Amino acid sequence: MQTFMPAMKRCNLWGLGNQTRATVAVLALLAFGWGFDYASGAQKFETSIDNNQPIRNPGGHAATFSTQGFVVLTGEYFQAQGTNGRSCASCHIPPDAWSINPGTLQRLFDETEGTHPVFNPVDANNPTTADFSTVEGRRAAYSMLLTHGVFRRGGALKAEPREWDLIAVVDPHGFANLTRLVHWRRAMPTINFAVGSATVNWDGGNTMGTPPDQRAGLINQARRNVNGVQMGPLLAIDDPIITDIVDFESSLSTAQLIVPGVGRLDSDGVRGGPEALAFMPKFEGRFDLYDAWAGHKNPRRAQIARGQELFNNTNRGGRRCGACHSSANNGTNFNNLLFDIGTASAAAATPDLTLHTFRNRATGQIRQLTDAGRGNVTGLWNDLGKFKTPTVRALAARAPYFHNGIAATLEDVVRHYETHLGFIFTDEERADLVAFLNAL
Ligand code: HEC
Ligand code: HEC
Repeated sequence: MQTFMPAMKRCNLWGLGNQTRATVAVLALLAFGWGFDYASGAQKFETSIDNNQPIRNPGGHAATFSTQGFVVLTGEYFQAQGTNGRSCASCHIPPDAWSINPGTLQRLFDETEGTHPVFNPVDANNPTTADFSTVEGRRAAYSMLLTHGVFRRGGALKAEPREWDLIAVVDPHGFANLTRLVHWRRAMPTINFAVGSATVNWDGGNTMGTPPDQRAGLINQARRNVNGVQMGPLLAIDDPIITDIVDFESSLSTAQLIVPGVGRLDSDGVRGGPEALAFMPKFEGRFDLYDAWAGHKNPRRAQIARGQELFNNTNRGGRRCGACHSSANNGTNFNNLLFDIGTASAAAATPDLTLHTFRNRATGQIRQLTDAGRGNVTGLWNDLGKFKTPTVRALAARAPYFHNGIAATLEDVVRHYETHLGFIFTDEERADLVAFLNAL
């Protein structure tokens, strides 16, 4: 990176890809693009976002708290490191809780006619047949990004040893084949690592060390991103660029802070919002953010507290949300475990996803999955279809949900658990649980 001209490095926030005027681009985006309803002076927003600054989303407002004092928008995370104009913040942006949502991608596409760096053939439905020369061709080529906010991952089958074979593949976009998996994946939020899991990526593919070492995993993730989706050099483990990026993302806590009709989620005895999260110890246990609102006279507050108990307690179907989302008040798995919750199953698949048929070499057993998940990292049959247990904070800012975006809303998430994992809820309970999830 040192070989880049400073002017070249100063580019590509999550905006219009202005290659030289990053500060101006940030200001314009924050003022007009993202609908920030901020009270602070515009000056401040040229280079940073205040801690706890509310940013609107469909469920209210979320905010980020950085242990660096405020959210600095000028570090290496926001600079294009490679040759294709992408930075980490091309795909991980503050208003979408550090993921990126289909609505944002649609807007970026419309503003740039699909030439923003986030639209790159490496993520196209089928780069070998797409027509990238026209707007409509690009719109078709990036339909998965535009509709579900999912990036194309996958690639080669895990090298031997492997317990399974890929024996058939149906890809509606025509790119997958018997030596090339196509996995459609949402950008994971780069937040809440302080109390989070040490596995990195939906399939744990960037996890490092035994037992997993979170910082080593984040370093590996950053290096592979610069080298891969940004098409830059493979930087050293201790390169200052990598250190700056990992320090930055490790400093971020993001959570919902305000819900209409409820008020601030860090008021009146409760402990929602990002700042409380940033200073919580990591421990295994129940969510207790909203204990003080049990039976509250404001029915919307009481509802959130009821939803929290539904999350914490064993459901009449025999399972418990908190059993897997066991890191208290964050929701990753305390023991870094990944699970198969049916999100990659044929039964849950939408028709635009790739369906792979795997066969167990020892038993001949067959499984059909849209994504091999952990199984293509370890080669183990029992790891097929397993995914990282993600943080469940700041959900309202980053629909759609699950690795492949199959759940459009939080209600769809809960219904997925009812259909595919045996949970049983009444309509009222489902509404309570959704109110709680929206307040995380
Ligand atoms: C082209 C879009 C894109 C860019 C650019 C990008 N990411 Fe990501 N990021 C993703 C996607 C998609 C995933 C999920 C990948 C998977 O699981 O296969 C992800 C996952 C992650 C995760 C895993 C989080 C977790 O909880 O396990 C981290 C950390 C991360 N990215 C950091 C970065 C950093 C740092 C950069 C810049 C060096 C970066 N990303 C650039 C799209 C992107
Ligand atoms: C068996 C373990 C397990 C149980 C039980 C469980 N989850 Fe999950 N949860 C996961 C895993 C693993 C994922 C990621 C799956 C994926 O994306 O493919 C996930 C994802 C989610 C997400 C989406 C997060 C995102 O970033 O897209 C939400 C919300 C969620 N779970 C809420 C719940 C609720 C509510 C319950 C109880 C009704 C519950 N979970 C029960 C393991 C579990």
